Amino acid sequence: MIDLRRRAARLDAADPLARWRREFVLDPDVMAYLDGNSLGRLPRRTVERLQTFVRDEWGGRLIRGWSEGWAELPTAVGDEVGRLVGAAAGQTVVGDSTSIAIAKALHAAVRLRPERDEIVVAAHDFPTDRYLAQRVAADTGRTLRTVGLRDDGTLDLTDVLGERTAVVLLSHVDYRSGALLDLPRLTRRVHDAGALVVWDLCHSVGVVPIALDQADVDLALGCTYKYLNAGPGAPAFLYAAARHLPHLQQPLPGWWSADDLFAMADDYRPAPDARRLLSGTPNVAGLLAVREGVAMVDEAGVEAIRAKSVLLTGLVLDLLDAEGLDVVTPRDPASRGSHVTVRLPGARDVAERMAERGVLPDFREPDLVRLGLSPLTTSFEEAVVGVEAMLDVVRSTR
Ligand SMILES: Cc1ncc(COP(=O)(O)O)c(C=O)c1O
Repeated sequence: MIDLRRRAARLDAADPLARWRREFVLDPDVMAYLDGNSLGRLPRRTVERLQTFVRDEWGGRLIRGWSEGWAELPTAVGDEVGRLVGAAAGQTVVGDSTSIAIAKALHAAVRLRPERDEIVVAAHDFPTDRYLAQRVAADTGRTLRTVGLRDDGTLDLTDVLGERTAVVLLSHVDYRSGALLDLPRLTRRVHDAGALVVWDLCHSVGVVPIALDQADVDLALGCTYKYLNAGPGAPAFLYAAARHLPHLQQPLPGWWSADDLFAMADDYRPAPDARRLLSGTPNVAGLLAVREGVAMVDEAGVEAIRAKSVLLTGLVLDLLDAEGLDVVTPRDPASRGSHVTVRLPGARDVAERMAERGVLPDFREPDLVRLGLSPLTTSFEEAVVGVEAMLDVVRSTR
């Protein structure tokens, strides 16, 4: 135990990102926060930015705010997120929830491959991804095919990919096991079959380096409330490669995706640029929070964040392995994201008892405890305190 604390203290002392933790609101009652993979901590800058927005901009500028910069936020903040995920300007917007972004991307992709009649989704992907894939398939007369991740966290598309495949929807990091897929390789594989790929980046944006343009990705989306720390329900981003934008038709056209927002025209003409991905009035407070979170990740650097993430997850894996627990996260650092998942009998109870001690993990049905490590806010000491609490609880139930 003491050795472990020493190891953690050494890692904290050598951590080039250590100062970032002080930039977040830290509740003294929370001994260890291991759920930043669900909801990132609150940045102090965001507290100030939102106070100013509410008081001076909403309160003071009222309707004038729209022409003084609010209306540009979905594309401006989109470009800022784009920089983090290797997307040149003009291809990314921020505005809807992730679920809505998935629906838009899937519909648009199916329309871009009208002669093909199959959609592929990972069998155990996040529920919203699967439900939407089912709905889009049913509404567009396509057949849904599913493919499971292998036990080692890799994915083989051989049996499901072919001449009939229109689109493949994949999560970069699996929300349960934390397995990280090889995005460039799988994108090439899907393209070799003549299909399009939609990537869900919810669990990788801000914590894993991503190069969407370089990998030739077609469409991608992700949430901003995990490793981008933009707050509960903050708007998601949606990326469409520039080569697709001129022909892209999304299923929820609205005045914000029209060529001229204020023309109030009888007929809908989509905007020629990324604005065509939008629908209705965006949430300005949410967009401003995304801007703050993205700026922090950008300043800290995704490469440095990833390096710390690998150390944090490595430390946690060592502790869990030493206890002989059933860890479902891949051991190879190149194949895992930033959370570590354990399969445990009575997982819900374990998570609740950890919470009683001020350690907040994440429980996923039926028997998984996820430990999320957020490199900007999680210290090595915090990770050790959290895992020790978990091991204490587990030992006491044996
Ligand atoms: C991988 C993944 N996809 C989609 C979603 C759904 O996002 P939202 O509820 O913001 O629409 C989540 C939410 O956590 C997620 O983890």
